[in-house]
Parts: sequence; C-alpha cells; structure tokens
Amino acid sequence: MYSEEVIEEVRSKNDIVDVISGYVSLKKKGSSYFGLCPFHNEKSPSFSVSRQKQMYYCFGCGAGGNVITFIMEYENFSFVEALKFLAERAGVELPEQEYSREARERADTRAVLLEINKAAAQYYYVQLKNSQGAQALTYLKNRGLSDDTIKAFGLGYSNKYSNLLYQYLKSKGYQTDMIAKAGLISVDERHGASDKFWNRVMFPIMDVNSRVIGFGGRVMGEGQPKYLNSPETVIFDKGRNLYGLNRARTSKKSYFLLCEGYMDVISLHQAGFTNAVASLGTALTQGHASLIKRYVQEVYLTYDSDGAGTRAALRAVPILKDVGITAKVIRMDPYKDPDEFIKNLGAEAFEERIGKARNGFMFGLEVLEREYDMQSPEGKTDFMREAARRLTEFDEEIERNNYIEAVAAAYHVGVGDLRQLVGKIAVQSGLARPARRPKSTDERLRKKEDGMTKSQKILLTWLIEDEVLFRQIEQYISPEDFTEGLYREVARLVYEQYEAGAVNPAKIMNHFTEEEEHREAASLFNTKIRELTTAKEQEKALKETIIRVKNHSIEEATKNLEPTDMKGLQRLMNAKRELQDIQKLHISIN
Ligand code: UTP
Ligand code: MN
Repeated sequence: MYSEEVIEEVRSKNDIVDVISGYVSLKKKGSSYFGLCPFHNEKSPSFSVSRQKQMYYCFGCGAGGNVITFIMEYENFSFVEALKFLAERAGVELPEQEYSREARERADTRAVLLEINKAAAQYYYVQLKNSQGAQALTYLKNRGLSDDTIKAFGLGYSNKYSNLLYQYLKSKGYQTDMIAKAGLISVDERHGASDKFWNRVMFPIMDVNSRVIGFGGRVMGEGQPKYLNSPETVIFDKGRNLYGLNRARTSKKSYFLLCEGYMDVISLHQAGFTNAVASLGTALTQGHASLIKRYVQEVYLTYDSDGAGTRAALRAVPILKDVGITAKVIRMDPYKDPDEFIKNLGAEAFEERIGKARNGFMFGLEVLEREYDMQSPEGKTDFMREAARRLTEFDEEIERNNYIEAVAAAYHVGVGDLRQLVGKIAVQSGLARPARRPKSTDERLRKKEDGMTKSQKILLTWLIEDEVLFRQIEQYISPEDFTEGLYREVARLVYEQYEAGAVNPAKIMNHFTEEEEHREAASLFNTKIRELTTAKEQEKALKETIIRVKNHSIEEATKNLEPTDMKGLQRLMNAKRELQDIQKLHISIN
C-alpha cells in the first residue's frame, strides 16, 4: 500500500472542483459549487462541492467524500485504481510498490489477462471486417444490426481454422499459459493449443469501465451450444458483471431494462433504449443487484416470455427487492424476447410496453393464477389464500396495506375482507413463517448502525463540524472513548489535526484505503446534524450524546479491568465523577 504522504500528495494535487467539473457541470453558489448529482436521478441540483473543504456532498442521496471517493464511486474503481487514475491526471509518479510476491503476481496476471482479452477482441473485430468474416457480417446484418452498432459493441468473428487467435497472441508476445488462463485456448498434450472459439460471431463482454473481460460466441444458425462463453477467470466474474453496463450507466434514465440475452441488449440499444443490460447467461445474483443499485433504484425486467423466462423474472424480483430496487415486469408476448419484439413491432410499441409494465408482486400473482381454476368459487378462494399468505411477507405495514388495496381491486374482493384474511393467516402461520432470505449487507449495516454506533457517529460529526464545540468537548471525551469500528481511528486523526491547526476531512479520508472503510469514513463527514430545530434542543441532544458515549466507554473499560489494577480503578472513578460534571455542564451551540 502507498504511504499517507503519497496519497495526500495525489489528493492535494487534484483539486476537487476541477476534477468533478470533468464529469458534472457545476455552478458557483456562495462558497460552494452545485450541480446535478451523478449518483442519483434528479432534476434540480443538490450535489455540492466545496473547494475549501475539498469534499463533495449530495443533499439528495447523501453521497459524499473527497476527490478519491468521487473517482471510486463514479468510475467504480477500487481505492488503488482511483489513486493511480488521479496520480496520472496530476502527473504524480507513484513509487514502485512493495507488494508481496503473491499480490504482485495476482496484479500482474490481471493486467496481462486484460491485455490479452483486449487484443483478442481487436483481432476478432478485424476478422469480421475481412473477407473471411463475410458470412458472419451478413449474419449480423440479417439480424438487423447496423455498422455503428457492430462497432459500438465491438462484435467480431472467430475464424474457421482452429488456432489463428493463438498464433496471433503468441506473435504479440503473450505466453501460452497466460492465454490459457484467459480462457481463449485449450491445451492438449498431443495436439498442442487450439482456439476455444472458432467460426462463431463474437460478443466481447466488458466490465463497467469498458475493459474486455471475456467473450460469448454464437454459432451462425443452428448448432450446439448456441452460445459458447469464456470460463470464469480472475478477471471474469459472471456474478458481478452485466452485459451492456458500460454503456447503460451513462444513460439518463432512472431505471435499467434487465434482459436475458446479449442480442436483446444490443437490439434495445440500437433502438434507443441505451439503459438495457443483461446477466451473462446465469441467473441474477445478489452481486448483480448490488451492482445495479449503484446506478438506479428501479429495474424493468424484460425476460423471455416463455416459462423459463417467467420463472427467472419471478426469482429476480425478490433479489432486487432485497437491495432496495423496485422491480417491474414487461411482457414481450406474442414475441419470444425484446430483440424479436423490437424487430417486429418497433421501438414505439416497446415504449408502450414499458408504460404497461406490471409491478413485480402483481406479476407474481398473475403467474400464480394459472395454477387455479379462477372460475370456480373454491379455486378463487384457494388462490386468494395464497395471495394473502404472500401479502403477509411485507414487513412494512404501509407497504402491505398498499398491496392489499391493489390486490383487492385487481381481483374484485373487498379490501376489508382481504385485510382480515391476511391478518388471520399471519397469526396462524405465526412462528412457522418461512425463514427469510439472508438480508443483504446493506440492510445488515443499516440495522447495526443503531444505538451506540449512531451516538458515536453523531458525536464525531459534531466534533468535525465545529471547532468551538470541539474545544468544549475535548475535555471530557478522548479518542479512546470511541469504541465502535473505525471511529476511534477517525477521532484520533481529528484530535491530532485540531492540535495542529484545523480539521482537514479530505486528508483524513486518505487514511482509509480499503473500500468499505473508505465509504464508512466518508459517511462520517456527510452526516448532517443540524436537523433539530432550536439551539436549545441541539444542546440537550449533544449533552445526552456525550453522556451516553462516555458511559458506554466507562462500562467497556470496567468490563476489561483486571481486579488488581488499582490505577485503572482510580481512573474509572475519576471518569465517573467527570460524568457527573458533564450533567451540569452548559454546552453552547452558536
Ligand atoms: P437465449 O437462448 O434467449 O438467446 O439465451 P438470445 O440471447 O435470444 O440469442 P439469439 O437471439 O438466439 O441469438 C439468453 C442468454 O443465455 C446465454 C447467453 O448469455 C444468451 O444471451 N446462453 C444461451 C448461453 O450462455 N449459452 C447458450 O447456449 C444459450
Ligand atoms: Mn433472441
């Protein structure tokens, strides 16, 4: 890892206003700059950047941090990737890293595999445009793709002769074992290396930063398998990448169209729906859902209209819901998939289907309906029972009620009757309720962040925001009183910086180079506390917070005290006495 000095040099040489201006159009207002937040959809600017603090903050979605955080979030980079990016931008030369041999090899392998994939994609693209690629080009043209689309998605062709790519890559200096690691050849003791893909139309699969990480290759016409895909490699994780995301992420829409196939994504983009993405021939995972959540809060599922597609859509809805994404379902019938739909009915008709998208839960009920004889009273009653059981799964009352109303209206039953049935089933099933899926990390973090964590976070935020308060509080609270997570570390740095002059949040952020920690630290500097109405209320809240934090710290110390540690005991007694003083203390907030 890089030293704090180096990180600080890179950070301070990249003025945050200059950097962010390259991504967001900013206007000066008072001492800050404002623009439309790139991390959520909005119509009026609530995204602010402070040149003085070298920090950004969005009043709408709470995103915030320093210039490194911004690049991490915007480019989806790791801390080190963001640092390298900014170092290059500012012309700072980063020192050679003292990596462990293993870490260096891993990083080298990644870099080489990315290069190999890129070279392969270029090779396939050239083949498509060569005379050998004529049939493949015709195939793509017949499927309605324009030259621009072919270029935008970097489509290509793998030759009929089975080791041309291998020879090409060798001629560029890549080693056989690396080419094999990239999944592009198979090596056989007797026959040597042969290309994995041949005589197929090639779809390069890119990560969110448009780096080629793998391929899907389609047979032209009939043949098995229809698509052959790169195996998972150190750079190709199918559960954490989505086809088309590199383009969809800059679309201005507030939702993604999630479909099943490469061709669906391409057709949709060509028809102007540049917010389409697809999973990579696997079912939607929680990793995909979290990835999507970085860009949009809403997803329209446009899966195939057959049974498999319907089941896949039904499985995707709760996975999306778990990370807080609203899912809607678009029907493609009478066509098989979005690609065929667009080809037959055009973009306008597709737009209409978007407008008619069904909410994920209601879609689930429509599918369920098919299992019941809805014409008979028994059939419909059984169906309503199952519907009611599903309604019990909404934890939040308001949401449950909204759905009860929607279901009652859709199936022509009384709202009161349905609500009663839901209540009855909830009681009956009681403890026997099915175990819920494990909560997503986000949700777990949110739950954990209660009580003491919250108090310490708020106190720390106060200390950071206001030096006058800091001077009053520092007599009672020391960095050691912060027991939760990385707060002690942040507190230590804040105290140090106050001693040296003023707090520099952007610099403190540098200290946390691990993604999760970096985001958590950023959130400390983003928490806004001036929500309580009067100064008096604030003073009261602050005092209570100080007491709660100190109390907790004393309790923790008491737990860990050795019975023979007389000095420690003495310290604790003093601390308790001080606590009494705080009760009497008058803290003034200006
Ligand atoms: P589909 O069979 O729906 O194909 O598979 P498609 O995308 O509509 O392709 P066309 O229009 O027939 O050319 C959907 C996705 O499932 C994966 C691919 O990612 C494909 O895009 N798949 C399918 C495979 O990986 N292998 C296969 O053999 C078939
Ligand atoms: Mn298709």
